[in-house]
Amino acid sequence: MNKKILVTGGLGYIGSHTVVALQQSGYEVVIIDDLSNSELFVLDRISEITGIQPDFHPIDLKETEAVNDFFETAKIDGVIHFAAHKAVGESVEKPLMYFRNNILGLVNVLEAMKKNSIDNFIFSSSCTVYGQADKMPIDENAPIKKAESPYAKTKQMGEEILEDFVSAYDKNVISLRYFNPVGAHPSALIGELPKGIPNNLVPFVTQTAAGIREQLSVFGDDYPTRDGTAIRDYIYVCDLADAHVKALNRLLEKKNSEPLEVFNLGTGVGSTVLEVIKTFEKVNGLNLNYRIVGRRAGDITEAFADNRKAARELGWEPKTSLDESMRTAWEWQKTL
Ligand code: WQD
Repeated sequence: MNKKILVTGGLGYIGSHTVVALQQSGYEVVIIDDLSNSELFVLDRISEITGIQPDFHPIDLKETEAVNDFFETAKIDGVIHFAAHKAVGESVEKPLMYFRNNILGLVNVLEAMKKNSIDNFIFSSSCTVYGQADKMPIDENAPIKKAESPYAKTKQMGEEILEDFVSAYDKNVISLRYFNPVGAHPSALIGELPKGIPNNLVPFVTQTAAGIREQLSVFGDDYPTRDGTAIRDYIYVCDLADAHVKALNRLLEKKNSEPLEVFNLGTGVGSTVLEVIKTFEKVNGLNLNYRIVGRRAGDITEAFADNRKAARELGWEPKTSLDESMRTAWEWQKTL
């Protein structure tokens, strides 16, 4: 009997790629998504890739009754929770919207799990919880620093809530701290769909290359790095999706060594903004229109992962190069 997994935010960027990976690993998947930052056509694209149409419920997780009604009948074996607002800048302008959506949504799911005796939960977290870490690469024991944005706070608060959730109700949780997810599925049927002006680097790069944006602004070249631009760890979205399947397997097989485990998911390699641009231009044979401007408020200089714990415990290794990520990102952009 296939295990049935709820993926909240399953029509979103990382969510949709994870649904594909789960289905291809033999899991039955049901999606909850409120379509606030995703499109319904992604459901058909998932089916086109895997041949399996996931069950879909357009539920807003802030609607407590709707969440409870769903869980009472759904018979779920585990939950992977992506559903959250994730725009750093927007969270600074609208903190209460972020706390309501990201925290109330999370608590509603956790309460429904408790009521329905569902024990396994995977949380979509972020390296942003580390702020500017003191040493590179960043491992899971790096101190959690004061959050730079309400968005980052909701990730830190989410993990703190989960600490009490696992001990009070005897649950098993894995929190996955992503570095910078990039790229698109090799089929070019699913990928990143930023609403409005992209906050993140790579969708802005691809939209500039597509002529949707006039010019990419590089936010600062006076950082203390090899070329002056900031360093991040750009992890291919399908490798990230695979890590979620491995984490779920670990919980369902009861191989976790403690009730709450945390894993950094990155390549372990840092790339500067200019290196991302050069890689994109090289692999796609394009010239990108960009200029250097001032730093963006809240940005940190450098972050890249020590991913050895995920390799050791999850048996997970990123397999995809930045070149390939940039190629898939462009292939996907050309379909839009
Ligand atoms: C990457 C680098 C920018 C845009 C955030 C969240 C993280 C995760 C990913 C949410 C930085 C530079 C960017 C542009 C630029 N989750 N940049 N011009 O800020 O590292 O991480 O998004 O999605 O939790 O914190 O990602 O892609 O915004 O920026 O020069 O137009 O690219 O300064 O150095 P970030 P990013």
